[in-house]
Amino acid sequence: MTASLLQDAVLVTGAGRRVGLHLAERMMALGHPVIAHYRTPTDGVERLRAAGAVCLQGDLADPDGGPRLAEAVRAVAGSLRAVIHNASAFEVTAPDTADALRQLDVFHAVHVRAPFALNRELAPLLDACSARRADIVHITDIYADNPNPAFDAYCASKAGLQNLALSFAKRLAPKVKVNVVQPGPILFKEWHGPEARARVLSETLLGEEGGVEAIGMAVEAILRNHYQTGAVVAVDGGRRLA
Ligand SMILES: NC(=O)c1ccc[n+]([C@@H]2O[C@H](COP(=O)([O-])OP(=O)(O)OC[C@H]3O[C@@H](n4cnc5c(N)ncnc54)[C@H](OP(=O)(O)O)[C@@H]3O)[C@@H](O)[C@H]2O)c1
Repeated sequence: MTASLLQDAVLVTGAGRRVGLHLAERMMALGHPVIAHYRTPTDGVERLRAAGAVCLQGDLADPDGGPRLAEAVRAVAGSLRAVIHNASAFEVTAPDTADALRQLDVFHAVHVRAPFALNRELAPLLDACSARRADIVHITDIYADNPNPAFDAYCASKAGLQNLALSFAKRLAPKVKVNVVQPGPILFKEWHGPEARARVLSETLLGEEGGVEAIGMAVEAILRNHYQTGAVVAVDGGRRLA
C-alpha cells in the first residue's frame, strides 16, 4: 500500500454534470475521497477538482475506454469503497439501420463493455476496502425492464448493464455488494419538448421530475445498507406502473 494513493475512494463515472455531478459532490460531502470520471470538461469538473476530487478524463465509447480508466484509477487509488456506473448515452434510435447499428455499438460500449471491464479490473481495489463491504452501483433505467421501442438500442444496452449487476453480485459476494438503481423521469434532457414532458409526467404517479437528489438518496441508502445485494431499486415516481 502506497501512502500517497487514495484509500476507500468512490469512483463516479460521467460526473461532469447532472446526476453524476450530484453523486460525486454527495459522496465528497459524506467524507469519501472521490475519483470523478468525465468526458467533456465542464464547470462541474472544475468545481469537483477545486473541492479535492481526482478528475480523470476518458471516452467510454472507445472500446479501450474501460480498461484505460481502470488503469488510471489504479494509478491514483489503493482501495475503493464504491464504483458508481452513471455514465450514459441516450438517443432515439435512428431510422436508418446502419446509423442505428452505430448507436447500438456506442450504447453497448458505454453501458456494457466499459462497466464490465471496470468491475473486473477494479475488483481487487474493492476487495482491499477497509469497510466491511464495498459497493458497485449500476445506474440503469426503468426502460431496462419495460422498454420504449423508440429507444430500443438504448434500452437493450441498459438491460445488459442491469443483468451484469446480477452476475457481479454473485461473483463478488460477500465483500462487494452490487445493486441497481433504475431512474425514471429524474431530469429531462434539454431536447425534451413541453408535450413530451407533459406526457411523461401524466404517466408518473407522483406527477413531477424526481431531481438529482432522489438518485443521490437511493445510492447513499445502498452504500449504508450492509445486507442488500443484487437488488433493483426503482426511483421513478411510479412511472414503471403506467
Ligand atoms: N435523467 C433522467 O431522467 C434519467 C432517466 C432514466 C435513467 N437515467 C440514468 O441516470 C444516469 C444519470 O442521468 P443523467 O440524465 O444525468 O445522464 P446524462 O445527462 O445523459 O449524463 C451522463 C454522463 O455520461 C457521460 N457520457 C456520455 N457518453 C459518454 C462517453 N462516451 N464516455 C464517457 N462519458 C460519457 C456524459 O458526459 P458528457 O458531459 O461528456 O456528455 C454525462 O456526464 C444515467 O445512467 C442515465 O441513463 C436518467
